[in-house]
Amino acid sequence: MKILVTGSNGQLGSELQILAKDSSDDFIFLDRKSFDLTKPAQMSKVLENEAPDIIINAAAYTAVDAAESDSQTAQSVNAEAVKQMATYANEKGIFLLHISSDYVYHSINDRPIKETDPTKPQGVYAKTKLIGEQAAMEHCKKCVIIRTSWVYSSFGNNFVKTMLRLSQNRDHLSIVEDQIGVPTYAKDIATCLLKIIQYYKADNCTFGVYNFSNTGMTNWYEFAKKIFELEDIKISLKAIPSSEYPTPADRPKWSVLNLEKITKEFDIKARNWEAALRECLILLKDS
Ligand SMILES: NC(=O)c1ccc[n+]([C@@H]2O[C@H](COP(=O)([O-])OP(=O)(O)OC[C@H]3O[C@@H](n4cnc5c(N)ncnc54)[C@H](OP(=O)(O)O)[C@@H]3O)[C@@H](O)[C@H]2O)c1
Repeated sequence: MKILVTGSNGQLGSELQILAKDSSDDFIFLDRKSFDLTKPAQMSKVLENEAPDIIINAAAYTAVDAAESDSQTAQSVNAEAVKQMATYANEKGIFLLHISSDYVYHSINDRPIKETDPTKPQGVYAKTKLIGEQAAMEHCKKCVIIRTSWVYSSFGNNFVKTMLRLSQNRDHLSIVEDQIGVPTYAKDIATCLLKIIQYYKADNCTFGVYNFSNTGMTNWYEFAKKIFELEDIKISLKAIPSSEYPTPADRPKWSVLNLEKITKEFDIKARNWEAALRECLILLKDS
């Protein structure tokens, strides 16, 4: 099958590029230049020329704070472009795999969040991601949406790489401890997407919204502590509340996702976040 991947240079897009090397499918990876989600005419032309069987939308406006002052671009990329791809996919009867975010929930809970729990996105990024999801579901019958959390990889920009970089010239860091969630290795999301595609190819795919993350839970302070512990980096860490680290966009305090649905439908068994982090750190060391 011909699988078109948007956002090819992002964390997820880069991990998909690695996995595609061992796949018998024909992957087409498109970066922002060749498939710009703010340029509907270019998108239409590329989709018609490439005529894919499956679209994986790994592109997004992910700069959560910048989105607060650039809502028009965030809306174009995270919502309007998704509607366009969904409409195209539906017209052609092809499969759309779209990635969304734990930020759509934004609920305070004492249990892992289910796909059926209410959404209450705060901030431009989160709201545009939810509008994108709704457009995908409304306009495309053959659509799977994956809501994931706290993504990192050896590629791109993320918390793990930021911590390692900061530790090179700082001996003290203050890290937020009142946001609880699950760090998720983009490689594991990529693996999950390819498994869903196998179900689709076997005509055994239940379309809809699914959570996916690594398992366990932590907070940003403990996440940073674990990174430095595994890397044997000596640094003084101070746990602070979010109120001492104000950001333009509000972050959810609770982002632990219930994975029962994806496990049941696609037999996907996510690994623990610490095991995934170990693997990513080894790769970063070798690179
Ligand atoms: N990062 C997280 O912590 C996180 C958490 C939950 C959910 N998610 C979701 O997971 C998915 C993958 O995220 P990620 O972490 O891989 O993001 P990422 O590393 O920021 O990559 C996003 C990609 O989208 C591309 N992009 C941005 N604007 C574009 C445009 N106008 N046209 C075409 N491409 C454009 C970027 O292009 P450039 O390379 O040119 O910048 C980049 O390659 C996204 O849907 C995101 O919302 C992410």
